[in-house]
Amino acid sequence: MNRYEVALVTGASSGIGKAIALELASAGLRVLALGRDRAALDELHSTAGIVPVVFDLSDVSEVYGKIAGEKIDVLVNNAGLLTASASLVDLSEDDIDAMIDINIRSVFKLTRHVLKQMIERRRGHIFFTGSSGGLAPHPNSSVYGATKAAVSLFSSALRCDLIGLPIRVTELFPGRVETNLYRTALGKEGAKKKLYDDNEAIQPEHMARLLRTALELPDFVDVTRLEVMPTGQVVGGAQMSKLSR
Ligand SMILES: NC(=O)c1ccc[n+]([C@@H]2O[C@H](COP(=O)([O-])OP(=O)(O)OC[C@H]3O[C@@H](n4cnc5c(N)ncnc54)[C@H](OP(=O)(O)O)[C@@H]3O)[C@@H](O)[C@H]2O)c1
Repeated sequence: MNRYEVALVTGASSGIGKAIALELASAGLRVLALGRDRAALDELHSTAGIVPVVFDLSDVSEVYGKIAGEKIDVLVNNAGLLTASASLVDLSEDDIDAMIDINIRSVFKLTRHVLKQMIERRRGHIFFTGSSGGLAPHPNSSVYGATKAAVSLFSSALRCDLIGLPIRVTELFPGRVETNLYRTALGKEGAKKKLYDDNEAIQPEHMARLLRTALELPDFVDVTRLEVMPTGQVVGGAQMSKLSR
């Protein structure tokens, strides 16, 4: 696969990242899977030989030691957090900090760190998991949506920095995918009932298959954005309500 040998996938303990880690391992790459859930990462190790990197991205600089010596060809910035589905005034300052730390700060810093080696070795492919929530306003997701909008512009601006180098940048841009993302915001059962029971959501494996396709194209072909919606979902979160004066 395009000479790529080593991949680092963040948020690989569940959902989209787990599916991507498994897909890349089945493609023959050495996969480093990062997350906080040690048991989930150990399971990936025993089932697919994936290397666990148990780590909390709240302070990303501490991770550099853990990945030292790894020649990372494929970086999948996928870890993400939606602490609460709530209006801005109902979010705590800790909620805001956590979403900015995980969804933005750790992404920018980890990418910068890994990109230095990619530029030296003149090879690499960087993926970001954005969101339809970063393109259009959705109710109760001002901070989450803003973090994803930041990732989206970062991803496309990075391509400008890399012009002339065989290093690709792709943003995964999904609508609703059936994962645990909303478990913090809505509770596991609440999320299932509200988001998934009456709809057909994209499954994490669909995103992983698309990522692999983009990766396997020749390195002069950059799929810059993979926008994927459930057929039953349109972009935009418009919600009508009577005015309360
Ligand atoms: N599901 C959707 O509908 C949807 C739609 C658009 C975009 N997305 C994006 O897709 C990405 C993956 O989310 P998902 O839907 O697959 O949800 P998920 O199953 O909840 O996965 C989130 C991943 O992020 C990791 N993570 C969260 N906080 C972390 C921290 N402090 N340190 C390290 N890892 C952390 C989690 O690992 P640990 O818990 O082990 O730390 C987990 O592996 C996110 O960026 C999300 O915003 C999802």
